[in-house]
Amino acid sequence: MNMDGITRRSLLKQLGAAAAVCSGAHAEALPAPLLDAAQAAAQPAAGNASSQWAAAAAKQEATRAQRMEWWHAARYGMFIHWGLYCVIGQAEWALEMEGIPIPQYEILAKNFHPRPNAAREWAALARRAGQKYMVMTTKHHEGFCMFDTKLTDYCAPRQGPGRDLVREYVEAARAEGLRVGFYYSLMDWHHPDGATCKTDEAARRRFVEYTHGLIRELMTNYGKIDILWYDVDWPLTAEEWESERMNAMVFELQPEIIVNNRNGLPGDFSTPEQHIQAAEAGRAWETCMTMNNSWGYNRGDDAWKTPKTVISNLATCAQGGGNYLLNIGPRPDGSAPPESAEILEAVGRWLEANGKAIYPTQRGELRSTQNALFTRNGNLLYVLMTSWPGATPAAQWLSYFQPGAVAALGGVNVKVKSARLLKTGASVPFTQNDLSLRLTSLPVAPPDSPVSVIEVECEGEPVVDHQSIRTKWPRYGVGMS
Ligand code: GLC
Repeated sequence: MNMDGITRRSLLKQLGAAAAVCSGAHAEALPAPLLDAAQAAAQPAAGNASSQWAAAAAKQEATRAQRMEWWHAARYGMFIHWGLYCVIGQAEWALEMEGIPIPQYEILAKNFHPRPNAAREWAALARRAGQKYMVMTTKHHEGFCMFDTKLTDYCAPRQGPGRDLVREYVEAARAEGLRVGFYYSLMDWHHPDGATCKTDEAARRRFVEYTHGLIRELMTNYGKIDILWYDVDWPLTAEEWESERMNAMVFELQPEIIVNNRNGLPGDFSTPEQHIQAAEAGRAWETCMTMNNSWGYNRGDDAWKTPKTVISNLATCAQGGGNYLLNIGPRPDGSAPPESAEILEAVGRWLEANGKAIYPTQRGELRSTQNALFTRNGNLLYVLMTSWPGATPAAQWLSYFQPGAVAALGGVNVKVKSARLLKTGASVPFTQNDLSLRLTSLPVAPPDSPVSVIEVECEGEPVVDHQSIRTKWPRYGVGMS
């Protein structure tokens, strides 16, 4: 690595003294960032540092499938954006978007007084909602650390809250049996070197050590952490952040963790934001999304998604083998906005009867229609009817839509053995040919709300693609003169 005048060699030289101390009894006396760098420098001469990081990356690759097994099965998580910005209540970009002077913004830190253990409420809410993991902002772009740190006083225990909010969160998530994730923004609007690090090498080195040091504390002080969710790497490149060294440190401290792709490296999974986009086959992905239009608490934002939209999004993620990380933005007292709590409870109630359609599921060759989404688990196909067919008036002329209400699916390219309504367990009669599967004698009223699910047992892996009809059905003139 060679960055604007700094080479690995010169860094090692400067850290030589620290490395010597590190091997002695006073290692713990070193400040964490220096200790980190010193330990890196003190590695045996088995190869240079970059080959050690390459080895760490190779290990990360080799252990990925095993490390990510729980995460794939989990499918659905809760994102929590909580920081000083909630006191203003105009979302998490207020500092920059509203041009608030830093000394003004800092006053928020003294006036942030969440009630004790607010995280317990979200953790219980997440469990009832059917979410299996949580990811909370430990430091957002504003630079305020929600955790205890030796590296800055701009942190929850030494400001208004008077305690470590990350610790409360970790304990709350564990108490509910949820996996624990830490969001961490590399970009920092508060740290004096946060922007100058791009053009001033001394500032870059200070800021990178600060950043690595905070991450080291997060990875050291809270027991086993399941996810490290980096965010915004502006203004540096991966090389300038020393992201390989960063990840190597993270995996050394937390060998089973998974990391995302926002520190300039690919990490273990991709993070499409506010849209659902399956990654290429074989690559893990997670869509993160707000429940209204804001991540941080925004008093005026009433653009709430409906439970049906949330369920459809969750199913669309599951259809493509991805996860859905759905956000809440707690208020200054730490409570979740009631609207988000209601949406989550409704989705949770739906999952009680229909969870099989979401977890565990695997990516499939499944093309949605206007009325249905599809997921699959092995040979089980789940038909999630977002529009229930009910009684079409066309049935009086078309036997195709008889008997009862009929859900007809074009291009189900596998033989079906049985079908049943997930909500009631009632079996569903069907007929099938090359072109379509007709699920018949369905109730006229939807059996569930807001989405009804039919479980279809198939002889092999279900493939649903209405477009395949085009190849089987030589153009649409068939039967008409
Ligand atoms: C963006 C936003 C940030 C939010 C994040 C969530 O990076 O800057 O506010 O935390 O998306 O993915």
